[in-house]
Amino acid sequence: MEMIEPVEWRGTATSGTLWMIDQAALPQTERWIECRTSTEVAARIRDMTVRGAPAIGIAAAYGSVLASREPKPTDGLDALAASRPTAVNLFWAVEAMRPLLSSGPERCLEQARAIHRSDVENNRRMGATGAERLRDGMNVLTHCNAGPLATGGYGTALGVIFAAIEQGKRIHVWVDETRPRLQGARLTAWELTRAKVPCTLICDNMSASLMRAGRIDACVTGADRITRTGDTANKIGTYGVAVLAKHHGLPFYVAAPRSTFDLSLSDGAAIPIEERATSEVTDDRAGRLAAEGITAYNPSFDVTPAALISAIFTERGAIDPVTAERVSAVLES
Ligand code: MRU
Repeated sequence: MEMIEPVEWRGTATSGTLWMIDQAALPQTERWIECRTSTEVAARIRDMTVRGAPAIGIAAAYGSVLASREPKPTDGLDALAASRPTAVNLFWAVEAMRPLLSSGPERCLEQARAIHRSDVENNRRMGATGAERLRDGMNVLTHCNAGPLATGGYGTALGVIFAAIEQGKRIHVWVDETRPRLQGARLTAWELTRAKVPCTLICDNMSASLMRAGRIDACVTGADRITRTGDTANKIGTYGVAVLAKHHGLPFYVAAPRSTFDLSLSDGAAIPIEERATSEVTDDRAGRLAAEGITAYNPSFDVTPAALISAIFTERGAIDPVTAERVSAVLES
C-alpha cells in the first residue's frame, strides 16, 4: 500500500526547509507548503496545515532544525511548544530537540529524522499488535483521522486496519465524518479510498443506530494524550463513541505510541483541552451555516476514561486491561 508521509525535510541541514502537505486544503486540493522559519512551522501547526498528534511532534522536531539556525533558537522552540495545547507528542518532541540546539543544525536534523523514522516503525509495530484483535470480515468504526497524514506515515488507528488487511483479512471501515473540521470525511476517507480499503462515510450521529443494528463490530481510534492510568484524550466525539461501544458490548480500542503518554498526569481531567474558534462550528468553507446571532462552543478534544477502553495498542505491545499497573508494565518493557 502506498503511504503518504505528511512532512518532509528537503535539502541540507544548513539551507534546507520543511515541506508539508496542506491538510486544510485536502482532499479538493493537493498542495505542499514550505516553511522556512520555526515561526512559520508553529503557525502551520496552529492553523492545522499539519495536524494529528505524532505529525505535529515530527513537524516541531524539524521546526527545531530551523530554530537552530535562527538568532534566538530557544524562542523558536518555545513558539513551537505554544502552538497547540493537547497533544503531548508536541512537547515530547520539542524537549527531545532542546538539548541539541547548541550542537547545530546537522545534529538537529539527524535527531529530527530519527524521530520521524522511529514513528513510522512504531506505527507498524502497534499495527501488527492491534491487527491480532481484528477478525476477517469485521466492520470497524474510526473517528477523526489517525492515518498516515496524522503521523510520520502509516498511521496509528488506520495502521491497525492496514496491518489486518496486510494479514489477508477483509475489513470494512465506517468513517465518522468528525465535525467540525471533518478530518474523517476529508482525510481518513481520502487515505482509505487511495489505499482501496472498503469504507463508508457516516455522520457522527449515525453510529449508535448502526451499532444497535449489529453493523459495527469494533471501534479503533488514535489519541492525543494518555495519562498513566490510561485516560485518553482524543478528538471531540471519541468519548461518545466509547460510551456507545460499551452500551452495545463492542470493543473500543486505542492505538498510540509511547510519545502520546503523559505519565506526569493521573486523571484525564487534568489534560488541557484546546478550544478552537467558534467559526469552525458556525461556518464551513463555503460560508455561514448557523443562524446569525447564535453563540457556539468548540472544544477540540474530549477524554475517554480508561474504564471504557478495551485495550491500548503501543509499539511495546497491548495494554489490556487498561490499568495504571499495565500501562507502566508495558511501557517499561
Ligand atoms: O485536531 P487534530 O486533527 O490534530 O486531532 C487529531 C486527533 O484527534 C487524532 O485522532 C489524534 O491526534 C491521533 S493521530 C494518530
